[in-house]
Amino acid sequence: MKRIFSGIQPTGEIHLGNYVGAIRNWVYLQDEYDCVFSVVDYHAITIEYPVEEMAKRTLETGLILLACGLSPEKSKIFVQSHVPEHTELAWIFNTVTPIGEVERMTQFKDKAKQHRANINMGLMGYPVLQSADILLYKAGYVPVGEDQVQHIELSREVARKFNARFGDVFPEPQEILSMAPRILGVDGQAKMSKSLGNFIGVLEEEAGIWEKLRTAVTDVNRVHRTDPGDPNICNIYTIHRAFSDNSMLIEIDKGCTSAGIGCIDCKKMLFENLKKELTPIREKARELAANTDYVKDVLHQGAGACRKIADVTMEEVRRVLGLYRT
Ligand code: TRP
Repeated sequence: MKRIFSGIQPTGEIHLGNYVGAIRNWVYLQDEYDCVFSVVDYHAITIEYPVEEMAKRTLETGLILLACGLSPEKSKIFVQSHVPEHTELAWIFNTVTPIGEVERMTQFKDKAKQHRANINMGLMGYPVLQSADILLYKAGYVPVGEDQVQHIELSREVARKFNARFGDVFPEPQEILSMAPRILGVDGQAKMSKSLGNFIGVLEEEAGIWEKLRTAVTDVNRVHRTDPGDPNICNIYTIHRAFSDNSMLIEIDKGCTSAGIGCIDCKKMLFENLKKELTPIREKARELAANTDYVKDVLHQGAGACRKIADVTMEEVRRVLGLYRT
């Protein structure tokens, strides 16, 4: 079976953008691929973070993956730092990665701007570690959001450079993009993101979700209820596209452009659909939170299975590198 690898950072709060852009897609893919999913804590330490929160956030992220429908029967689910071969392979990949290639990564440039006081080697090596994540399992497919495509391109380059020098060891991974277009934040300014504080959390309570929707910016040109709006520039519509079916999208499109419905009506319809999809996830998460031993066990088993694969790859890598073996 074709293998998939993907990862998610333990940022603390997983929001609808993460869910629609990645996790929901992973849930579908686990039926057709041999899947490996990781909570990538070694990526998260490349910027400042609350040290005392890391363990909790990591476990919570694992819990959310399970609550959203990832299944340990179908997929391997684990914490990156529990399989130390990720960093070992990343070191080796450092030696075949041109600095110019990582310097031009837009995520690196953005983060370097945001974290001027701590532009460290890890931040620069972030996509090299990501390449190691994928290639350690020789995964050929990587389901990610659009913002990660450049990093997957780099992983192809890393595989090519490694193979050219040491022999044909690694496949060149392909990205799998989710069909859902990206979701904008409730501020209507930018994509939904944890750092911008414009997000709706996957596990957020209904009252909180409604409050964020109610006060969310819509098409700014639609000042009065009687003004027609344009769904194509409305951030609420981007969320509708991810959670509402075609007939509702058509209804909203008509209603909005003809001022037949108001923004509040449109938000109420979205709220109903969000509830339908998120309530079972929240309930499952509550169950899992009462049984964290189960979650810990899943992550433990996942790491064990991944270490076995990692071990085989690393033996091959050390051999082709010509390292002294006993
Ligand atoms: N960089 C990815 C993100 O921010 C997370 C990630 C780390 C990842 N390693 C990966 C994604 C490997 C896909 C494959 O979303």
